[in-house]
Amino acid sequence: MTMHAHIVGTGSAAPERVLTNQELEQIVDTSDDWIIRRTGIRERRISSTERPENTADLATAAARQALETAAIDPAELDMIAVGTVTPDRQFPSAGCMVQEALGANNAAAFDISAGCSGFLYAMSMVHNAIRCGAARKALVIGVERLSSVLNWEDRGTCVLLGDGAGAVVMVADPKEGGLLSTHLRSDGQFWELLYSYYGENHVPTILTSLDAKPFKLRMDGNRLFKKAISCLTEIALEGIEHNGMTPADIKLVVPHQANIRIIQGLVRNLNIPMEQVYTNVDLYGNTSSASIPIALDEAFRRGRLSPGDNVLLVSFGAGLTWASAVIQWSIPAELSGQESAVTAAAHAGLGLT
Ligand code: ACO
Repeated sequence: MTMHAHIVGTGSAAPERVLTNQELEQIVDTSDDWIIRRTGIRERRISSTERPENTADLATAAARQALETAAIDPAELDMIAVGTVTPDRQFPSAGCMVQEALGANNAAAFDISAGCSGFLYAMSMVHNAIRCGAARKALVIGVERLSSVLNWEDRGTCVLLGDGAGAVVMVADPKEGGLLSTHLRSDGQFWELLYSYYGENHVPTILTSLDAKPFKLRMDGNRLFKKAISCLTEIALEGIEHNGMTPADIKLVVPHQANIRIIQGLVRNLNIPMEQVYTNVDLYGNTSSASIPIALDEAFRRGRLSPGDNVLLVSFGAGLTWASAVIQWSIPAELSGQESAVTAAAHAGLGLT
């Protein structure tokens, strides 16, 4: 019997600490006006070592919410796939640490490193595992603690990135629909446009404390910007056309949240109005692998998704990597429960601490 992979639960988590553009004005030579105009970002979440907010903690919190929505016990999971470029340790994987925290003792757990496309790469691996019978109930997580690899003296990057986690539970079901397709691409000849390195002398970080990591992120933002829009457009159309659809059949686009101008360029090329795009880059900045699952969870909890809706997920990031997924939404709106704490507070105009 052919199995289809359906998303039956979503979740997300973010650190408590909000870092605003105004605060960044005190750290580097930048301005709130420049950041908003060039990126659309107003604030981002930054994890603290004083609270349980490391990569595995954030991933576990998002996973618990997704499992609760799905009404699935962690012991039922047979696979945990985590997209991340900022695991807490070089090894073991963040996936194994999440497995331990959840008590998901029957799962095979692992990480996938694919820059900002990590979540869609992980989702694609799980999709194939479900279709060929290697998995029946799986957790797919995108999580980052990018604040741990940032150079806080580089205004070109430290204003862009943030921390957070998102998760989905996917199950095998003979019913048609669910995740219809995934498309993955990479081009290693452009790896130098965005990378992080292990310090000048390749100090084995395993010998130093977690927060003394000599990682530093480097980026050629301008060249990435130009590649991003064309790669995103190409892979989005490939996914849409693979399913015999046109952009008019897409109810909601949930793109990687790197820069509002990149998102606008993409949907202009697809001829999809911004009203059909979910964005939260203003509240989180770019959370790399976490950005799509956080946005998907929020879109669902804010009533933007109903069963049968065609949803396009599309990402681009370090590698270079780029990817798309087309989903026919499965979860009934009544299971959406509460909005995430971040969007609830922001939309109530309460101001965040
Ligand atoms: N504040 C003020 N001025 C700044 C800042 C800042 N934070 N950063 C750069 N500038 C200045 C530059 O120094 C430059 O000044 P100059 O003209 O005097 O030389 C000017 O602003 C323009 O710089 P550009 O780099 O050309 O600015 P651009 O409009 O391209 O915006 C940005 C920069 C926001 C980084 C954009 O290029 C971008 O979003 N790139 C894509 C990022 C991305 O998608 N990354 C991939 C995914 S991330 C991942 O995988 C983890």
